[in-house]
Amino acid sequence: MKNIAIILAAGKGKRMKTMKPKQFLSIGGEPMLTKSLQVFEKSPVIDEIIVVIDEKHKDECKRIVKNSFHKVKSIVIGGRERYDSVYAGLKACKNCRYVFIHDSARPYVDQDIINRAYEAVKVFPACAVGMPAKDTVKIVNKDGYVLQTPPRDRVWIIQTPQVFRYDLIREAYDIMAERSMKGITDDAMVVEASGISRVRLVEGSYDNIKITTPDDLKAEYEAALKAEADQADAKEAASLPEKEAVRDGKGDREIRGDKEKDKDKEGKGGKEGKKNKS
Ligand code: CTP
Ligand code: MG
Repeated sequence: MKNIAIILAAGKGKRMKTMKPKQFLSIGGEPMLTKSLQVFEKSPVIDEIIVVIDEKHKDECKRIVKNSFHKVKSIVIGGRERYDSVYAGLKACKNCRYVFIHDSARPYVDQDIINRAYEAVKVFPACAVGMPAKDTVKIVNKDGYVLQTPPRDRVWIIQTPQVFRYDLIREAYDIMAERSMKGITDDAMVVEASGISRVRLVEGSYDNIKITTPDDLKAEYEAALKAEADQADAKEAASLPEKEAVRDGKGDREIRGDKEKDKDKEGKGGKEGKKNKS
């Protein structure tokens, strides 16, 4: 029995408003989709990867996968909604014990997250990665009036991967399809609605953001610029050994100065001590 990662890349990225869907935009010089593939390819926990893609981008996906990602056993065509794409991925899983469902729009997933999720799913068969909300969250009615303010320490922001025992999530998705459920935005919801299992949350990372709007990529470019600036600073520091020497020299002088001051104090202290005694 295998552990399979389903990497979702069949969305249109409407909110990003770019010509290409966001999973093909460049991050650090590589298509965003590559980032998640690299992490799951490298994970010792994952045996196989299934990529879910829009028919239009199948060739582009094949080019990305070719030669680099040996765990990718199939590229399947997704559907209109995210849950349609997940269902297509689930149907393509063969001989699967645990399935990791991950959005390619979360390129900052890392090995620690995968490992934590894997340890959790062995105990709790339905798990979703997330983080406690940093901001206060309000539930509002359709006119924008606040109905409720849930206690902040009970509010989590949900991420992916969401990890399940395969038979359980497959059954939940079959139930969803039978009931033609709508408004499903993540896989945990499918399990919750099916009533077949509780869902356990697992710590993800505040870095594991989803790229949704252009603002999210602004952070990416700022990080790239900062990394460049840090590198430039490090280079400059390395090319200024004289400055360092001067600073060290000053440090030595200060140390000597302090010792001399200490001697002075001892002297004074002695006299003062005698004074105080008398
Ligand atoms: N996704 C998918 N199939 C769909 C819709 C979404 O595989 N029919 C994938 C996306 O490619 C993305 C992830 O699900 O990796 C999360 O979805 P979201 O951030 O909503 O991406 P998009 O649907 O592409 O963006 P938008 O909602 O702005 O159109
Ligand atoms: Mg969407």
